[in-house]
Amino acid sequence: MRKFLIAGNWKMNLNRAESVDLATRIVAKMPAPGAVEVGVIPTLLHLEAVRQVIRGHSLQLGAQNVYFEKKGAFTGEVSPAMLKDMGVQYVLAGHSERRHILGESDELVGKKAHAVVAEGLGLILCVGETLDQRKKSETMEIVGRQIETGLAQVDAAAAQAGHLVIAYEPVWAIGTGLTATAAQAQEAHAFIRTKLTEKYGRDTAESIRIQYGGSAKKANAAELLAQKDIDGLLIGGASLMADEFIGIVLAAVAAQSGHGNVA
Ligand code: PGA
Repeated sequence: MRKFLIAGNWKMNLNRAESVDLATRIVAKMPAPGAVEVGVIPTLLHLEAVRQVIRGHSLQLGAQNVYFEKKGAFTGEVSPAMLKDMGVQYVLAGHSERRHILGESDELVGKKAHAVVAEGLGLILCVGETLDQRKKSETMEIVGRQIETGLAQVDAAAAQAGHLVIAYEPVWAIGTGLTATAAQAQEAHAFIRTKLTEKYGRDTAESIRIQYGGSAKKANAAELLAQKDIDGLLIGGASLMADEFIGIVLAAVAAQSGHGNVA
């Protein structure tokens, strides 16, 4: 059974006090640990402050970015080891904002992905097509290439150890209020699982979680999570409100039983 992973990507929002406050509210309302996994992904600057709040609780800590080198003269960057030292459990790579606003290439994303798993950290590899690419029916080609290049140096051992999560996030659905329909999302997720099966074999591919991201919220969480290959949500805007985020977590707890059971 694949356990849902619900993660809140806070992006470049919230000051230190607001980050601490949001984490405190989430911790206070979290359901009993076990049924689903839940994490928050604050700005790198507030990792330590948020870590102090969630210490001893089941809430997980993620990072939004990383550099692929181990150490050295890379002004402004942070290494996987630095994140691990900070108590981070997983790291995003390939988020569409980094690909499309900051100009990260598939190759750079692949190097980051490798560096993350080589450090023993969890990787959330984000993939997804733009609206233009979807209109041109290029979705599978684009997503397929992002998976291949992103995972070129991520071996089966990392995937088998549970260190690999994929997030399918159609660019046109991120922060726009437009959500992929459950059927559109399921189609892309099934394709991604086929790609993972080609690379890692069926058993491993069936164990890898594929999150959906793109205007996910309390109102659409249950429908998305009811899809066979949707194993969690990566949430931006809706994760900045404690009640909304907890509402999504509760929807996931309700949807978890029986999800992802392999025949
Ligand atoms: P959104 O962001 O929920 O605000 O659309 C999702 C993401 O970028 O991970």
